[in-house]
Amino acid sequence: MSVVIKKEVESAIFTGIELLPDMSDQQFQCWVQLLESRIGMVLPLERRSFLTTNLGLRMREIGIKDYSEYYNLLTRTQDGVREWQILVDRVTVHETRFNRHPNSLEVIEAYIRDKKVDPASGRVNIEIWSTACATGEEAFTLAMCADRALSARPDSGYFGVMATDISQSSLQDGRRAVYSKRRMKDLAPELVDGYFEPAGVDLYRVVDSLRRRVCFSCVNIMNLDQTPMGGMDIIYCQNLLIYFDRPKREKIVNKLVEYLLPGGLLILGSGEIIGWHNDKVRKVKDSHTLAFQRLG
Ligand SMILES: C[S@@+](CC[C@H](N)C(=O)[O-])C[C@H]1O[C@@H](n2cnc3c(N)ncnc32)[C@H](O)[C@@H]1O
Repeated sequence: MSVVIKKEVESAIFTGIELLPDMSDQQFQCWVQLLESRIGMVLPLERRSFLTTNLGLRMREIGIKDYSEYYNLLTRTQDGVREWQILVDRVTVHETRFNRHPNSLEVIEAYIRDKKVDPASGRVNIEIWSTACATGEEAFTLAMCADRALSARPDSGYFGVMATDISQSSLQDGRRAVYSKRRMKDLAPELVDGYFEPAGVDLYRVVDSLRRRVCFSCVNIMNLDQTPMGGMDIIYCQNLLIYFDRPKREKIVNKLVEYLLPGGLLILGSGEIIGWHNDKVRKVKDSHTLAFQRLG
């Protein structure tokens, strides 16, 4: 036994922590296929310990000792549906923050500033989709941006934000819309004053008037064919494509283009899809943002 492994075993015995079970190559392949087919997640061999740790910890919580038994629970039983949601929360990364990519917000502001009044309603309508909203910071950032940009116009306007993610627990956090002072450090003081109210010690809640504009909903980006969406002015898709392989990234962005209104914007994370081309969009000339505008 190597010194490192021996030390781990000794420390596990010492602290009373049970070691996680071993995963065979065959079990690893089954899990990789399951996660890729259901949520698009690509797990190379180097991430095997990430997988065993996350599965193992959850299995320990529910008293399962074998990866195959857990696999069967997820894929062959009724309880598997609920358990799958819990596992998805464990294996997906929900890191996010307010105002994460200011350059993209500038592109959005310019779009809203120039958007024509809709002749039918006599106002400027803006529909925005945050495709992987995590705990809501991105969606509320977009809402604040739209609210300010519309208020700066002389005519009346309306906006709504559809905030979707695969993680139910993250969506719950977004619906609660309560954030710690630490999480709000990237927000300008006037945004904190204008869009948040105190909700406890070092906690702030998004004001109702803004919360009402954001609708949280569970959408697996791999299942866009089954998602009745459309008519979007702005689709924001940042820090999501990185979890998928190239063919899946292309399929997703091609599909997102279909959900855009003519003139609408698709805003991606810088470097998340290099060399992608679609005849229905043109790249927005902005060296700091990866954005495309729907033609027609
Ligand atoms: C790193 S966070 C990015 C959050 C936010 N877009 C940002 O840039 O700050 C990635 C999010 O993608 C979500 N996600 C992962 N796979 C997904 C899928 N197949 N469908 C929808 N959301 C997914 C995760 O639950 C997580 O909240």
